[in-house]
Amino acid sequence: MQLYIDTANLAEIRRAAEMGVLDGVTTNPSLMARENADFHDHIREICRIVPGPVSAEVVATESDAMLAEAEDLVRLAPNVVIKLPCTVDGIRACRALSDRGVRVNMTLCFQPLQALLAAKAGAFLISPFIGRLDDVGEDGMQLIQQIRQIYDNYGLETKILAASIRHPQHLVQAALIGADVATVPFGVIAQMMKHPLTDLGLERFLADWAKARPRSAATAAT
Ligand code: E4P
Repeated sequence: MQLYIDTANLAEIRRAAEMGVLDGVTTNPSLMARENADFHDHIREICRIVPGPVSAEVVATESDAMLAEAEDLVRLAPNVVIKLPCTVDGIRACRALSDRGVRVNMTLCFQPLQALLAAKAGAFLISPFIGRLDDVGEDGMQLIQQIRQIYDNYGLETKILAASIRHPQHLVQAALIGADVATVPFGVIAQMMKHPLTDLGLERFLADWAKARPRSAATAAT
């Protein structure tokens, strides 16, 4: 499973990249707005830090205007992926961009038929939002499962990017189902290597080692 970070914060992106396990980045207009930076400069900088796919989202809602925005975004860096909403205009723009070899991430996916059309329109990624479905009493993980089955039934190559992940269990479930990628907030990435028994075990190993060291040193001296 590939791991993307879901943020536009440069410090978080750098810290995750330093772990050596980061495959890409997703941003969205809400995340960008928090950074209070020039959009294009900021995307350029993210693309410098992470060589993998970096999703940059258009804010136009009509397909011709989406294509015009995408035109500027793809010029920023070769690893920019254009993020478009799962709407009829989004699908039309996806088809046009995919036909030109531009990679598209279809976002705001909340039902499996949106994912089917995104794949038919040549999307590189489909982003089903798990957490936001859970928030309204639906089952976000079931959507991942349905899309996985539909894509596998027909050999569709669009990658399933599990999005709107709120906690490590979302990530475990998405990985078990076979999502190709997960995009995860920094806080959840930090939790991925955490277990209290790891901390306790390490503490005990180090304490035992510290007790045994004087003895080993004495044995070596005789
Ligand atoms: C995905 O690309 C989105 O940016 C993101 O996962 C949305 O997550 P949220 O529902 O926690 O805002």
